[in-house]
Amino acid sequence: MSERRILITGASDGIGKALALELAKRGYHLALTARRIDKLTELKLDIEQRFPQIKVEVAAMDVGELACVEPTIRGLSKALGGLDIVMANAGIAYAGKFGESPLEKHIEVIHTNVSGAMATLDAALKLFREQGYGHLVGTSSVAAYRGFPRNAAYCASKAALSTFMEALRAETHKENIDITVLHPGYIDTEINRAVPSRPFLIYVDKGASVIADLIEKKVARSTVPVFPWNLVAPILKQLPTAIVARL
Ligand SMILES: NC(=O)c1ccc[n+]([C@@H]2O[C@H](COP(=O)([O-])OP(=O)(O)OC[C@H]3O[C@@H](n4cnc5c(N)ncnc54)[C@H](OP(=O)(O)O)[C@@H]3O)[C@@H](O)[C@H]2O)c1
Repeated sequence: MSERRILITGASDGIGKALALELAKRGYHLALTARRIDKLTELKLDIEQRFPQIKVEVAAMDVGELACVEPTIRGLSKALGGLDIVMANAGIAYAGKFGESPLEKHIEVIHTNVSGAMATLDAALKLFREQGYGHLVGTSSVAAYRGFPRNAAYCASKAALSTFMEALRAETHKENIDITVLHPGYIDTEINRAVPSRPFLIYVDKGASVIADLIEKKVARSTVPVFPWNLVAPILKQLPTAIVARL
């Protein structure tokens, strides 16, 4: 395996945390970021105890603090002697009907999930161009396929991230840089625990294992789990509004 050092944003909980554990098991050195440094430190100690050969660097980083993102990523890269993979994974959701809920909440989703991810990808891409190689991974969502009621900003943010990364793939076509866009369905984490219906739900450890496999295969894009969302996601685009409105 050539890729061994990964930076994950949003690694204090959920998918990012489970993926850190899964990749430690697979021999990757880790650079982990999120806002809650106490949770990251706890995770670092746990990983170091279970996998003593793995290097774990942690840093508090709010991806919404755009100016802090590049210096933090540079610092972590230096500590690990370079980065092979950077995963823009940090994200938030907000459920509320637009026009009947605070505008700031919707803007915050766009800022974290789009601007925050762009800042992460920008820092990583500059680093990868200097190194001459690298692999960018983005955690989008099946929500990117269709705008769902009460989740307008979240769906729009994920559609933006997917499309943005598709453009980056074209821009880096002739460079030694890989781009993977992941579209998870429902993985059991805090982000969706209050959602009344979570079709095809999988546990977070299973999700992390599927994601690790997809990253190692350097797929261009994939749903998570691959099946049944690879069949269901394209259908979401075709659903009549009357049906979507009832969801
Ligand atoms: N779970 C699913 O079913 C599902 C489906 C599709 C897509 N996704 C996407 O997967 C990603 C991870 O979500 P999850 O399910 O693991 O949710 P989660 O358990 O709520 O974890 C979200 C992570 O993002 C971090 N985060 C949130 N805002 C941040 C910010 N401003 N700066 C830095 N880190 C921030 C959180 O850490 P701190 O609070 O410590 O900062 C946490 O580590 C998100 O992009 C989400 O949209 C999840």
